[in-house]
Amino acid sequence: MTDWLARLRDDLIAITTDAARVIWRGVPDGAPPYFNYRLEHVRQVERDALRLLDRVGGDRDVVLASVWLHDRFKPQHIGDHHAARAGEWARANLAAYGFPPEKIARVIFAVANHSRAPGALPDDAPDARVLWDADKVGKVGALEIVMFLAGNPAFPHKPNTFATIAQHGFDKVDGDELFIAQFYFAPTREWARERLAAKRAFYTALAREIGLDQNG
Ligand SMILES: [Fe+2]
Ligand SMILES: [Fe+2]
Repeated sequence: MTDWLARLRDDLIAITTDAARVIWRGVPDGAPPYFNYRLEHVRQVERDALRLLDRVGGDRDVVLASVWLHDRFKPQHIGDHHAARAGEWARANLAAYGFPPEKIARVIFAVANHSRAPGALPDDAPDARVLWDADKVGKVGALEIVMFLAGNPAFPHKPNTFATIAQHGFDKVDGDELFIAQFYFAPTREWARERLAAKRAFYTALAREIGLDQNG
């Protein structure tokens, strides 16, 4: 692994672990937090970005730096202006990390624009599009269920029952359908459709088991 990538990864692991410890109290000093939502998310963005690079091509350095930087200023669930701040951080620090200077502008663009609405990225910014798709496709399948259930105790003011969990699933599925149609690349749309089908199957089974009529 190149030095800059190891440093960006180590940074993110440290930043997100500290933030997760604040949420999950009761963990002994030095032990890992019960769940590090942000780190798990970024690791999945990396997996999907690498798969996507194999299919559609792109600059591996730009994409990997963007993956590990894009949520640096949203270490768990909160982070105002986190995309713009990641861009500013990249501009000020990436060169000192040993990242190829001629590629920094593309990283800045990718991270600063990763929260834009669907369809906003120009076609001369393929690396930014890879980051955008990879950032979103991890949130529409089995992983979304795990993220929701594992992370939900962080929001104890939102109590759940089997029925509210099933309803949460169905509420999101319809929006997801529209959302994934707007991904930039065909492979991401294809993975998203598969993942959404798995999620729908899970929530359908859950609703059936508890006797919930999903239409009301
Ligand atoms: Fe983000
Ligand atoms: Fe993200």
